Amino acid sequence: MDRIRITGGQKLNGTIPISGAKNAALPLMIAPLLTRETLTLENVPRLNDVAMLMRILSNHGVDHTIEGKRPGDQPNAGQTIHFRAREIVDTVAPYELVSRMRASFWVLAPLVARMGEARVSLPGGCAIGTRPVDYLLMAMERLGARIEIEEGYAVATAPKGLRGAEIIFPKVTVGGTHTAIMGAVTAHGSTLIRNAAAEPEVTDLADCLNKMGAKIRGAGTPTIEIDGVTSLSGARHEVLPDRIEAGTFAMCAAMTGGDVFLEGARPETFQAGLDAIARAGAIVTSNNHGVRIQRNGAGLAAVDITTAPFPGFPTDLQAQFMALMTMAKGTSHITEKIFENRFMHVSELARLGAKIRLDGETAIVEGVTKLKGAQVMATDLRASVSLVIAALVAEGDTTVHRVYHLDRGFERLEQKLGACGALIERISEGG
Ligand code: UD1
Repeated sequence: MDRIRITGGQKLNGTIPISGAKNAALPLMIAPLLTRETLTLENVPRLNDVAMLMRILSNHGVDHTIEGKRPGDQPNAGQTIHFRAREIVDTVAPYELVSRMRASFWVLAPLVARMGEARVSLPGGCAIGTRPVDYLLMAMERLGARIEIEEGYAVATAPKGLRGAEIIFPKVTVGGTHTAIMGAVTAHGSTLIRNAAAEPEVTDLADCLNKMGAKIRGAGTPTIEIDGVTSLSGARHEVLPDRIEAGTFAMCAAMTGGDVFLEGARPETFQAGLDAIARAGAIVTSNNHGVRIQRNGAGLAAVDITTAPFPGFPTDLQAQFMALMTMAKGTSHITEKIFENRFMHVSELARLGAKIRLDGETAIVEGVTKLKGAQVMATDLRASVSLVIAALVAEGDTTVHRVYHLDRGFERLEQKLGACGALIERISEGG
């Protein structure tokens, strides 16, 4: 298993290109299940989760072709991939695949919409909590699907097709909103989704589906209206830049000091994260090409944050911000409101010398003046990158084990940080 070794103490200076968003790419890759025509996605990140979803989709009959590089292409440019599901060959998504990637459960809605049936394994728990799918199933039932749970599988049937309905989510859910949208776009009649997730990834999916001929209004707000259409066509769509990757590198720069330009980052997609970094003492500026983070000389101030659905502070940046706060002057309170068990990084950060106490859904971080390198273990995707942030300023060497978690969601992390002056290297199996 690969490890990453970091020698702390280097300021970061330079430009980091931001990749396409993993959380936007995954639902976009599922959308071609809704049509016989080709959906071309540009700026698809090179990530393990993307490769895994391609395998899962090919089981259902989705062919994909990855475009080769052309002369003049930026070396860091994302991939252009053509997806086509001319025929759906299997409506079953087995446990072995769904349990490895929760987002693959989202195939349920388009499979039922197109084929009138699907049998999708329930994903089970994961490191950050129980993460049920009850709201996703509720949305499908509201759209007229019959749902049975059989031997760990959600079996959904709608022999006469799905029909528009009002869907009210009791809690904001990104996956629930993706499911409701993909179920409703080709349903008979109109759908109204209330308390919908307003995350930029939802808007990206809706924009793409509208290019395919769907009639979706209000994506990016809590109320989404959809008029069902009889069929969708192919389209071409560019995946949104990754706001979580951008926010993570912003925190790396704020942590080490220096001057980093996040090329392609869209500040409006992670403003709450940028505001928190600015309150902590970094200078944040942005233009049409990206976001610049500078911190020279000034120390970090303690800042309290509470995670919330968009446009609030994203849960996917909570661990990274906690890492930043370990070196702040004073005490900060970090409250996690989205997932109940998302503090696995606390004990690993403590191994580097951080002082953090847990009180229910709040972590109380008492800033220290120095961290010291150690061996640490990645537990989930965002938790593992928080260890990298802390390691960038820790004295001596830190080795992060189980970096396959990082590879699920961060493209070329070592190269991107290394190009800005970080001392970071991957040690491969046996190396
Ligand atoms: C997506 C993101 C994940 C992010 C999360 C919240 C992807 C691939 N993943 O996950 O990175 O952390 O949004 O922004 O895009 N819930 C239920 N029942 C349900 C569904 C959700 O109780 O049926 C709860 C969850 O346990 C959680 C909350 O609702 O407490 C939000 O979860 P949700 O927005 O659905 O997360 P995901 O879509 O799984």
